[in-house]
Amino acid sequence: MDGIILVQHPLLAAALTRIRDQSTDTTGFRRAVTEASRLMAYEATRHLECRSIAIRTPVSAARGVVLRRPVVLVPVLRAGISMLSAFLEAVPDATVGFVGQKRDETTLEPHSYLFNVPAGLEKAEVLVLDPMLATGGSVAATVSGLKERGAKRIRCVHLLAAPEGVRRFQEVHPDVPLFAAALDRRLNRSGYIVPGLGDAGDRCFGT
Ligand code: PRP
Ligand code: URA
Repeated sequence: MDGIILVQHPLLAAALTRIRDQSTDTTGFRRAVTEASRLMAYEATRHLECRSIAIRTPVSAARGVVLRRPVVLVPVLRAGISMLSAFLEAVPDATVGFVGQKRDETTLEPHSYLFNVPAGLEKAEVLVLDPMLATGGSVAATVSGLKERGAKRIRCVHLLAAPEGVRRFQEVHPDVPLFAAALDRRLNRSGYIVPGLGDAGDRCFGT
């Protein structure tokens, strides 16, 4: 499927298997999401532009690099929180914004209950974190809100995506790249990804 970057790595595939497995308990689920997110973080930050700087090693003058732009991580509550620590390990200087979206179980439309993001989004590289892209409504609404607040460089990072949701997202935000560890078969009638992993928030937070 065009427009979604599927990250392939044996360690990611193995972590994803534990994430999907219904016999994985909350502790194991969180651990596997962190492992998978660490690998996703390297791929989703590959594009970041650098600026050359002069440094001194203990031996001589040398050239090095720093990131050209600040990075803002935006986990979508609740489940996106499970990906945050791995991304902060990869980008320790990142600032963090929080967006709360809850799907209505009947309409499957997202209800936005929190939008708390740092100032200066127009200059930043923004990475939206949410393990699930199902109908695409939650991440599309999050990206719309970020654009309204000035964000220009946005990427979305997921573990699982459904084709229906990817298509819907791309109709609204064709300029925003999507990264995922897997593109699953479809959504079921309740809007769950098949085969999926169940309810990401519940499995991560033991609710
Ligand atoms: C889940 C998930 C995404 C959303 C995806 O959140 O974490 O945010 O569903 O579905 P969509 O693509 O159809 O919008 P949920 O609404 O269950 O909230 P929670 O994380 O607080 O449990
Ligand atoms: N949200 C989830 O947590 N799981 C799904 O399969 C779809 C939406």
